[in-house]
Amino acid sequence: MSGILSDLSRDALSALAQVTDEAGLAGWHREMLGRKGSLTEALKGLAELDADARRARGRELNALKQELEVAFESRQAAIQSELLDSRLLAESIDVSLPGRKPAVGSLHPITSMIREVSEIFAHLGFQTVEGPEVELAEYSFDMLNIPKDHPARDVWDTIFIDTDQVEITLRPHTSPMQVRTMLQQEPPVRVVVPGRTYRYEAQDATHEWHFHQIEGLAIDRAITMTDLKGTLAEFARQMFGAERKVRFRCDFFPFVEPGVDMSIDCPFCGGRGCRTCKNSGWIELLGAGMVHPNVLANVGYDADAYTGWAFGMGVERLVMLKYNVQDIRQFYGNDLRYSVAVRPGTALTLFLRTIDCGGGVARRSLEE
Ligand code: FA5
Repeated sequence: MSGILSDLSRDALSALAQVTDEAGLAGWHREMLGRKGSLTEALKGLAELDADARRARGRELNALKQELEVAFESRQAAIQSELLDSRLLAESIDVSLPGRKPAVGSLHPITSMIREVSEIFAHLGFQTVEGPEVELAEYSFDMLNIPKDHPARDVWDTIFIDTDQVEITLRPHTSPMQVRTMLQQEPPVRVVVPGRTYRYEAQDATHEWHFHQIEGLAIDRAITMTDLKGTLAEFARQMFGAERKVRFRCDFFPFVEPGVDMSIDCPFCGGRGCRTCKNSGWIELLGAGMVHPNVLANVGYDADAYTGWAFGMGVERLVMLKYNVQDIRQFYGNDLRYSVAVRPGTALTLFLRTIDCGGGVARRSLEE
């Protein structure tokens, strides 16, 4: 090979040895073997040579071209394999490292308790339904046997929505869902209704201005107070322990007759008396009673053929009792550690049975 070409070959090969990446390879290829590269320039000089010298120089140039192409391909293969090795090294996983704990959320204690109660009642044959929190005063009160001038209307410390047309409340209890449910279906009825409720009330350790209740309603032929007591006692025992005793005492709610409140013997002291039960040995759980015949008549049920019972209980109160929570205001303080207190994993599937009874108004106005 002539001196010029062997210089070209040496320079080209040493430049190729310096190349370390794909971009460098492409640049080298352009400079040496490209259309305006060194080899093409060398080929241009052939035309000036005589035939023998041209043939000899042509052979040399071809050999050089082949040599450079082979060198290029082998450098390219080497660089690609180096790149692959370094990627594999960078992306390799050290399986001996401890795992990173994912930040998994958990259910709010109130949500969890609503599901737990719904689950217990589902096994007793009750469907879970939900209804509106913004409610007609007609359903919150009038249809529940609490007419406008009735003093009991004040008991619920209701928050009203300012409107000229109809009286609207933020529901002060879940009892209007008794009305909606009965307007929407014929007996037999067996439902529980969890949901938010609102009252214009000063907050303290046991009172919130918004809280949750669960309503229960059972209507059928020949339903008696015995069914009410048996069902609620069974619920209390499943929720608070098989050894729980229950106590029913007379109470007044305009939409039931007779009305009762139900207490359980204090799960903390077993009824002996402690701070939680204020030394009485009993803790009140809920209000209940036999559905008033006026309410049955208001929704168009035959009060001679059907009887039933209803109850309403505070969900916060249940969680406080079950998990020994001292202050109701903690439920809405957004402290994430709070949820840990509650048993995880209650059956979600039961909640999928929830239906919306908000259509009660529509059906009633069709019938009117
Ligand atoms: C009622 O609201 C009736 N609707 C219950 C009822 C339904 C009786 C069906 C008969 C038949 P009461 O106002 O007592 O009743 O409330 C029921 C429960 O809600 C109480 O026992 C308590 O646990 C809870 N509760 C009431 N007010 C508050 C409040 N401000 N903060 C937290 N929980 C409350």
